[in-house]
Amino acid sequence: MTLDVVLGLQWGDEGKGKIVDVLADRYPVIARFQGGPNAGHSLHFEGNKIVLHTVPSGVFRTKATNIIGNGVVLDPIIFKGECEAIIKMGVPVRNRLVISRKAHLILPTHRTIDAAQEAAKGAGKIGSTLKGITPTYMDKIGRNGLRVGDILAPDFLVRYNTLKEQHIEYLRQYDFEYDPMQNEAEWLEAVEYLRSFNIVDSEYLVNDLLNSGKTVLAEGAQGLMLDIDFGSYPFVTSSSTACAGACIGLGVSPKRVSRVYGIFKAYCTRVGSGPFPTEIFDEKGEELRRRGFEFGATTGRPRRTGWLDLVALKYAIMINGVTDLIMMKSDVLDTFDTIKVATSYIVDGQKYSQVPYDSSSEVTPVYREFPGWKRDLTGIREEGKLPHEFISYVHFIEQETGIPIKIISIGPDRDQTIIR
Ligand code: GDP
Ligand code: IMO
Ligand code: MG
Repeated sequence: MTLDVVLGLQWGDEGKGKIVDVLADRYPVIARFQGGPNAGHSLHFEGNKIVLHTVPSGVFRTKATNIIGNGVVLDPIIFKGECEAIIKMGVPVRNRLVISRKAHLILPTHRTIDAAQEAAKGAGKIGSTLKGITPTYMDKIGRNGLRVGDILAPDFLVRYNTLKEQHIEYLRQYDFEYDPMQNEAEWLEAVEYLRSFNIVDSEYLVNDLLNSGKTVLAEGAQGLMLDIDFGSYPFVTSSSTACAGACIGLGVSPKRVSRVYGIFKAYCTRVGSGPFPTEIFDEKGEELRRRGFEFGATTGRPRRTGWLDLVALKYAIMINGVTDLIMMKSDVLDTFDTIKVATSYIVDGQKYSQVPYDSSSEVTPVYREFPGWKRDLTGIREEGKLPHEFISYVHFIEQETGIPIKIISIGPDRDQTIIR
C-alpha cells in the first residue's frame, strides 16, 4: 500500500508526537526516518505523559510495528533510558520495535564535538540541542560513521576506538576542556542493551510490509524551517525534515507516498537561534509561552513565541506537497482579544511573499487581525460546537493555503482532538 507522512511545518514542536499517537490506531506500521534525540515528542493519554526522543510515537498502540529507520541517528544511552521508561509503563517495547542496521550511532565524542563547535561560534551559535546530531551526520556524510549494525561485528570495539581517537584529534583545534572518557562506560553498556533489540535491514522490511498491503505512517522530527536545505540556514538541523527525507530515511520509493499530513501550531514557536519574523517580544509572547507551556521537551529551554506566519507555512506546504493540514494548540489562543497572522513581509521597503534567502534580512511582517473567540475550546469534541470566530480563523488559513485543515487539536490529550 502507501506511505503516509506526518511532518512539522514550522520550527519543530508542532505536536507531531500527539498526532502520530492519535493516527497510530489506523496504521499498522509507524516509522521514524530522520533526526535523533534532538527530537522530543510528547504524548498524553489515559493519565500518562511521556516524551519520546528516538522511539516512534506508535509504541503505545498494541498492534503497530514501530521502525527506527536508516535515516535516524541513535544515541544508545538516550535510547536505553527511553526504553526503560516505556517498559516501566508496562509496554513490551522489544516486541513492538525494530531498528535499522543502517541507522548511525551517536558517540559520546559526537556530543563533545557538538558542544565545542557551539562554544566556538560564540554569539553566532545555532542553539543546538547538544545531542551530537550534526557531528554524527558529518561522520555519516564523511563516510566515517559507525552504524547500529556494526555493534554486531566482532571488531566493533576496535572500530569504536578508531573513531573516538579521530574525534579526540579533531577536538584539538578547539579551546575546549573535556574528558574523553566521559560517559564511555555508560555508552558501552547501553550498546550491550541495544544488541538485545531486533536489528534488521529495515528497507526490506518496510517494502515487504507495503507490498503485503500495509500502510506505513512516517513520523517526521523537527520541522521544515529547520531543514538542512530549505530551513533558515545555517540555523537549521542536519537532516532532511521534508517529505522527500521520508523516502531516503526509510528506503521507500517516492511513488509510494500518498497522504502528507502537515502539522502547524495556531501560532509559532522556535527554540534556538535564527530568524523568526513574527516573534513577539511583549507580554503577549509571554502569555503564549505560559498558556502553551512552551518549554523545550528535550532541553527545557523556553521557546520563543510569535504569531502564525503564512509566508513560512505556504513555503513548507509547497516543499512537502501537503495534502492535509493539522492545526495544533488552538486552545492556547483562547484568552486573546485579537489574533494576528502574517500574510506577507516587507523586506528592503518592498512587499515580499517568499521566504528570504538571507537569514540576516530585516523582515517586517504584514499582519491581518482576527477577533479572538474568548472561549475555552479544551472541552469541545464536535466541530459544530466550535465558536464562529475560531471557524473564521480556520477558514482563512484554508483559503490562503488552499489545503483543508482535517484535524484540530484543542489540548495535549489524545482525546482533545477534532477530526473533520
Ligand atoms: P513535537 O516535537 O512536534 O512532538 O511537539 P512537542 O511534544 O515538543 O511539543 C508540543 C507540546 O504541546 C507538548 O507539550 C504537547 O503535549 C503539547 N500539545 C500538543 N497538542 C496540544 C494542543 O492542542 N493544545 C495544547 N495546549 N497543548 C498541546
Ligand atoms: P522536534 O522533533 C524544536 C533546533 C535546535 C536548534 C537547531 C539545531 O521535537 O520538533 P540540533 O540539535 O538539531 O543540531 O539543533 O534545531 N531543534 C529543534 N527545535 N524541535 C525539535 O525537534 C528540534 N530539533 C532540533 O533548537 O535551533
Ligand atoms: Mg518536540
